[in-house]
Amino acid sequence: MKKMYPVAIPVLNGNEKKYVMECLDSTWISSNGSYIEKFEQGFADFCGTKHAISCSNGTTALHLALLAHGVEWGDEVIIPTLTFVATANAVVYCGAQPVFVDSESETWNMDPELIESKITPRTKGIIVVHIYGHPTDMDPIMGIARKHGLFVIEDAAEAVGAQYKGRMVGSIGHSATFSLFGNKIITTGEGGMITTNDDRIADQIRLLRGQGQDPQKRYWFPVIGYNYRMTNMQAAVGCAQLENIHWHIEQRIRVAMLYQQFLEDDTRLTLPVQKEWALNVFWMSSIILKEGTSQYRDQVMLQLMERGIESRPFFYPMHTLPPYRKLQMEEEFPVVNRISALGMNVPSYGTLLEDDVKYICMNIKEVLDRLGGDEYRDQS
Ligand SMILES: Cc1ncc(COP(=O)(O)O)c(C=O)c1O
Repeated sequence: MKKMYPVAIPVLNGNEKKYVMECLDSTWISSNGSYIEKFEQGFADFCGTKHAISCSNGTTALHLALLAHGVEWGDEVIIPTLTFVATANAVVYCGAQPVFVDSESETWNMDPELIESKITPRTKGIIVVHIYGHPTDMDPIMGIARKHGLFVIEDAAEAVGAQYKGRMVGSIGHSATFSLFGNKIITTGEGGMITTNDDRIADQIRLLRGQGQDPQKRYWFPVIGYNYRMTNMQAAVGCAQLENIHWHIEQRIRVAMLYQQFLEDDTRLTLPVQKEWALNVFWMSSIILKEGTSQYRDQVMLQLMERGIESRPFFYPMHTLPPYRKLQMEEEFPVVNRISALGMNVPSYGTLLEDDVKYICMNIKEVLDRLGGDEYRDQS
């Protein structure tokens, strides 16, 4: 039988089952219980932050962080146009407007040089996204934020463990958010986390996460909050994942290095980089087809699928999606328009073996040979 390679598979090879069974046996299955505190403390220790606050997913993490930073109706928040839609949607949940910025062509992250021209009197803050696991160039962005009195939230949904100049992502901005969805480097099934060193922001996030209930007075709600809590069972899975977090990260890097080894000599493709100041955790291994070949991208994905190899297109830029496309002009984003049309993510999970990646790469090359023929090669 033909082997199937999905893009992502969660790897649950530690104490996940044991800890979840403990929750079931003890009946601590809701959002109270010892695993929540343990998971939050362990996550904060890993990122080197004072606080880590768990929540129901990476989207609610963004919503809580934006609210805690005071984002409200009429504000603008600057975000990269190359991101998952949750980054933009969370801004809109607050009644604010996302303002999109193009990417650098090397790291695919928001280009710091393009940010200042997007700042208006309504701008409240910036969300950076460490896309596909490569950290954003944070120093210039923190400098711009200081100069203009803006907050910076790191959307680190895809980048737990990535480092910027030796510092953990999640510890650099004023706060940071993580996703723990099943395809992420570590997972709790669904889940999210917010890290910060700011006591006031942390208190506000805890308040809003738990329906706005006054921590000193049960059933007293001084503000309108949300039920965005994580369950003890999810935190139990998270604790088990955290015990092996270095292994999970190493596997993503190992897989990306294998793609590098088998594909780097193929001039039809561009592969992800790792800047000298970065540790890229390669949440998703990626390939970008050569310029001028966007007509082949979806065909390549289709033909790989026929061979049992799943892939997914790079995110469609936010400025092209129906809810957002009226906001800004298409021509403001030449880099992302190109990357997004030519890029795809390939199977990236930690249990892929060398032979698996070799097989996937052989198929990628074969599909390109067949699709492009001489015409494709002539353009190299
Ligand atoms: C950059 C980014 N932000 C936010 C999210 C949202 O996280 P979740 O799916 O846990 O709500 C994701 C999820 O994939 C993401 O990639």
